[in-house]
Amino acid sequence: MIMHYSVNRIPVGVLGASGYAGRELCALIAQHPRFSLAFATANEQRGQTVRLGRQDVTFTATDDAPLGNVGLVFAALPHGASLPWVERARRAGARVVDLSSDLRPGNAADLLGAIYGMPELGAETRAAIKIAEIVANPGCYPTSILLALKPLVDAGLVAPGATIVANSASGVSGAGNSPKRELLFAEVADDYRAYGVGNSHRHLKEMTATIVTLGGDAELVFTPHLLPVARGILSTITVPLVAPLADALEPFRDAYANEPFIEVVSEQPTLSDVVRRNVVRMTATMIAGLRAPTLLVTSAIDNLVKGAAGQALQNANIMFDIDEALGLPA
Ligand SMILES: NC(=O)c1ccc[n+]([C@@H]2O[C@H](COP(=O)([O-])OP(=O)(O)OC[C@H]3O[C@@H](n4cnc5c(N)ncnc54)[C@H](OP(=O)(O)O)[C@@H]3O)[C@@H](O)[C@H]2O)c1
Repeated sequence: MIMHYSVNRIPVGVLGASGYAGRELCALIAQHPRFSLAFATANEQRGQTVRLGRQDVTFTATDDAPLGNVGLVFAALPHGASLPWVERARRAGARVVDLSSDLRPGNAADLLGAIYGMPELGAETRAAIKIAEIVANPGCYPTSILLALKPLVDAGLVAPGATIVANSASGVSGAGNSPKRELLFAEVADDYRAYGVGNSHRHLKEMTATIVTLGGDAELVFTPHLLPVARGILSTITVPLVAPLADALEPFRDAYANEPFIEVVSEQPTLSDVVRRNVVRMTATMIAGLRAPTLLVTSAIDNLVKGAAGQALQNANIMFDIDEALGLPA
């Protein structure tokens, strides 16, 4: 593996680098002007060398990671496995961006004082990320749904006590790259199905806790679907409003006018608009013919970029006072 410890670059390490999120991170770090990849770990894939972002990366065993030699550790490990490694990295003196759900709101956010790393929640969030020792990187589905809801909650437009219905379709990389029979090509190709139905998906807690933090008084019905594509998430979100909107896009344009990674558009976003980009692309439309005023918000992201590695690197930029957009595919 190429070990970079150059003077102008901050050495960072990736735990779980052989997974989909970890590989994406290594590729982004390889092209980042201010970070250099000091180590990349794997479990079963340890010892393998792969080409990521025009750099050869050899995966070392997690136990061999020199956690104390880097300024930042990205933990891209499965939920449950991540928390002990976050604690070890902190004991070694490194700051951490954890991509798992272990330290997100609604999970164990209070345990280690982790800051929820969704920069577009606003200036206070960005200020907290900047000085954070641990950032809990948001989940992919929550990124596509919460950023679509925030302008409406902030503006007091969501009907009090409303039930918001979010249906999301995700590409198969959302499930990681460890072999699973139900994710074989023949099982998913030319098919489409819901899973985690009845509000049983792990991301629900993160979303409901964050809606409460934003000051919202709404329930959420969240149904994920498995889409037979490699990457991307498209969410359609039905939101009961206090009153009809003459211009459905206005709250979104107002809220995100200065956000480099949020695109508010008048046409329906598609996965091909966002794949391999660190953006959330969204639109909104008043639903015709209903008794109560109701808005449909559609949002699209790449689950591995804005939904994982890109957002993690965006947080790292903020933590080290680097231009937030540096090294990110806009
Ligand atoms: N995939 C997404 O779209 C996405 C989006 C947002 C957040 N996330 C989160 O990011 C994390 C990684 O997701 P992923 O999709 O990249 O998963 P993945 O492809 O299954 O990768 C998991 C990584 O962790 C390693 N690993 C597994 N068990 C381990 C253990 N007990 N000790 C040390 N290393 C271990 C794996 O190594 P080997 O493969 O070598 O065994 C691999 O490098 C998860 O917490 C996930 O929820 C994923």
